[in-house]
Amino acid sequence: MANTKSLFETVTLGKTTLDHRVGVSPMTRISATSEGLVTDQMGSYYTSFARGGFGLIITEGNYIDDKYSQTYFDQSGIVYDNQVQAWKKTVDAVHQEGAKIFMQLQHSGAISQGNRFVQETIAPSAVQPKGEQLAMYLGEGPFQTPREATRGEIQEVINGFVHAAKNAKSAGFDGIEIHGANGYLLDGFLTDYTNQRTDEYGGSTGNRVRLLVEVAKAIREAVGKDFTIGIRISQAKVNDYAHKWAGGEQDAEIIFGQLGQAGLDYVHVTEHKAWEPAFDTSEASLASLAKKYGNIPVIANGHLENPDKAREMIKNDEADVVTLGKGALANHDWVNKVKNGEPLAAFKPEEVLRPNAKIKEFEV
Ligand SMILES: Cc1cc2nc3c(=O)[nH]c(=O)nc-3n(C[C@H](O)[C@H](O)[C@H](O)COP(=O)(O)O)c2cc1C
Repeated sequence: MANTKSLFETVTLGKTTLDHRVGVSPMTRISATSEGLVTDQMGSYYTSFARGGFGLIITEGNYIDDKYSQTYFDQSGIVYDNQVQAWKKTVDAVHQEGAKIFMQLQHSGAISQGNRFVQETIAPSAVQPKGEQLAMYLGEGPFQTPREATRGEIQEVINGFVHAAKNAKSAGFDGIEIHGANGYLLDGFLTDYTNQRTDEYGGSTGNRVRLLVEVAKAIREAVGKDFTIGIRISQAKVNDYAHKWAGGEQDAEIIFGQLGQAGLDYVHVTEHKAWEPAFDTSEASLASLAKKYGNIPVIANGHLENPDKAREMIKNDEADVVTLGKGALANHDWVNKVKNGEPLAAFKPEEVLRPNAKIKEFEV
């Protein structure tokens, strides 16, 4: 029987019912105060997506502790009470416009280029990250070599995610998204060449996904059943666009299979082009593999600003929800425009990003 699913119909992720299947993907702005407080300007930025018809907004990545998690100076945080209160205003404003809002929780790991709490970085192993710091976020030169996280520090990371998720819940967010993608700490654990540990967090794919599963389970236990929890997963990294999982579909089976059993409500998969084959051994996209092996709802992301492409992902049952990054930046009212058959604006980085932004840096 033909699939009759469409973009603009309600859908449920965990305990959250969305008006339709199109959301804004998480996008760092580094426009909070130096103490990590969300400003009124940021509130207007998020609210304008809701006013433009988006049903779900996932915030930029927020740091989760006062140790190693901060990734950029002027990044927003969700550690202290005043940070919770600052976010609450934005959450309330977005709700008033009728959209749902999830907070992304981020631990930088080795890919930190601005932390007001500590100078050094921690990661699964002492492996210097590939590439250079991101100019878009005002970094330059190589990344420093991180220190291998001790087992005590791994537990502190889990505790940090839990504390942050509880804070996000008390700020009124509809859910949280664990940042498990793009080379930051959790993806650092997942990735073979950055994780050279010999304990149960390293080695096999099953061991490398362990910390992601433990974080998800610990958050679920702390926030209860009534709060939506997702995780974001990618192959590519901000400092290594071409990375592919060495085990191909077998890795996908282990990774999404484990995450599907971790108490999560969805997995958010990001690829350069969401519909393209994930590996050269089959036609399957990473989103479709997440659906196949995870058995939980999937959000797909990656160049889905063309409504036909977005619709295809839903029609083909590769995803339950799609998110837009650059397409949303160029069209805060993408949803209203598409519903009304109005033309969409092209993404022009110089208009929406910092002056020294380079488009290449978003190709994750
Ligand atoms: C300015 C900017 C900031 C971003 N910051 C984040 C972030 O904080 N967390 C995250 O998971 N992805 C981040 N991304 C990646 C986007 O969420 C998205 O995956 C990427 O832009 C590809 O989707 P698109 O083709 O629809 O733009 C960022 C992208 C951009 C353009």
